[in-house]
Amino acid sequence: MTALLKTNLGTTALIGRGKVRDLYAVDDALLLVATDRISAFDHVLGTGIPGKGKILTQISLFWFDLFKEIVPNHLITAEVSEFPAALQPYADQLEGRSMLVKRAAMFPVECVARGYLAGSGWKEYQASKTVCGIPLPDGLLDGSRLPEPVFTPATKSQDGEHDENISFAATEAIIGAEDAAELRRLTLAIYARAAAHAEAQGLILADTKFEFGRFGGEIILADEVLTPDSSRFWEGASWKPGGAQPSFDKQFVRDYLETIHWNKQAPAPSLPDEVAERTVAKYLEAFRRLTGRDLSL
Ligand SMILES: Nc1ncnc2c1ncn2[C@@H]1O[C@H](COP(=O)(O)OP(=O)(O)OP(=O)(O)O)[C@@H](O)[C@H]1O
Ligand SMILES: [Mg+2]
Repeated sequence: MTALLKTNLGTTALIGRGKVRDLYAVDDALLLVATDRISAFDHVLGTGIPGKGKILTQISLFWFDLFKEIVPNHLITAEVSEFPAALQPYADQLEGRSMLVKRAAMFPVECVARGYLAGSGWKEYQASKTVCGIPLPDGLLDGSRLPEPVFTPATKSQDGEHDENISFAATEAIIGAEDAAELRRLTLAIYARAAAHAEAQGLILADTKFEFGRFGGEIILADEVLTPDSSRFWEGASWKPGGAQPSFDKQFVRDYLETIHWNKQAPAPSLPDEVAERTVAKYLEAFRRLTGRDLSL
């Protein structure tokens, strides 16, 4: 199997290419296609991970289904045979890795839930004993479990710059108090449900990011959900606060990039086959652990 690095859907209107996904307008709907691109340290690497986009899409679909009682979502269909006729010639590029979704008016706030301290949360804590302005107890370490999960919103970066954590008051100022309260409620409810599910499979869901939008007057869960690209999953058995926890999915990639002393500037390097193979195995393991099923690519 070769990696799909870039889709080409003929005259279908391309809206944009993110680091991982290609986005198209299809009638009034959106088509999200997860490619096999992989990013590390904010750069897309030269090599893809064959099948990664399929695994990510199937993980999102699993969660959308699990949460359908908690929150409506943007999914129209992920069955390529149900896509409009104009897309049928491209079925081989789309199969397993694409979702036709309702085009929502997105809230310009990334809804992050954190149950553990890591990344930008750990950085802020070291400086001020807070995360997004929320006071936290003394003595927490990188990787510590928080007394209770917190809602730590961020503004979406425009030009590939890092997202910026903001306070709840700032969130209210951007989207209004009522929607801010509802997004916080939904974010924490979904996080709690997902973290409990992950824990039962021996995985820690340290933090995750959701994006919500408004469609037909209601708030819906959009984007990808609870994939290793939007979340930190840690191996429960080896969790040890006091330093960065191994990333479930990209550790082999990061380790390799450290060994070659890449300066983290473009152009990003390629990966040896062995690193790509071990990485896809890890993504497949994430799928298996989370869903209890095997995925054949
Ligand atoms: N149902 C939806 N309606 C409208 N826009 C959506 C919907 N679902 C997701 N989006 C938007 O589609 C875009 C998906 O882009 P994608 O995540 O691939 O790239 P990105 O966010 O620009 O960059 P990155 O690769 O860093 O994530 C995001 O801007 C997201 O907010
Ligand atoms: Mg994105």
